[in-house]
Amino acid sequence: MPSLTVNAHPLQFRMDPQTPLLWALRDAANLTGTKYGCGVGDCGACMVLIDGEAKRSCMLSLAEAEGRNVTTIEGLSRDRSHPVQQALVAEQAIQCGFCTPGIAISAAALLARNVDPSEAEIKDAVPNLCRCGVYPRLVRAIQRAGRAMRDLEIIDGAPAPGISSADAALSVPAITP
Ligand code: FES
Ligand code: FES
Repeated sequence: MPSLTVNAHPLQFRMDPQTPLLWALRDAANLTGTKYGCGVGDCGACMVLIDGEAKRSCMLSLAEAEGRNVTTIEGLSRDRSHPVQQALVAEQAIQCGFCTPGIAISAAALLARNVDPSEAEIKDAVPNLCRCGVYPRLVRAIQRAGRAMRDLEIIDGAPAPGISSADAALSVPAITP
């Protein structure tokens, strides 16, 4: 039974170890913020942090994630307070939103190691595809999140989720506090 830590909670998955991590997160752990786009490693909609590094969860098996720390979009922050989430909203870098969780994960991983990335560094580290074409706003949002992380600006808070984190946890058992 593959064991891994998901959003700071130790979990055991009673699933075939060859199951893609994406399916385990979405179907077994009910963490549906991680999206299924292409399923072949191209789009980045399925990005999660594995020990702090952005990885495509459709391309990893549960066995490969064994013993690792996995962070999904639900674990990035519990209240949309991560600077990347705040900046994506503030810069309106979201249209349909399908690609957004994966983009937020890639951007968070980038900013954790480089809080002042150039446009070229962002394009390199955030290879996610967006069919709505938010790319220019995305660069602005990621650089703005970096400025907020360096205390150079305060981003007006995005609206709070319409559900408390305690209520959300009731329907998402894997993130139960
Ligand atoms: S669903 Fe994983 S890269 Fe597209
Ligand atoms: S906002 Fe629609 S796919 Fe990116």
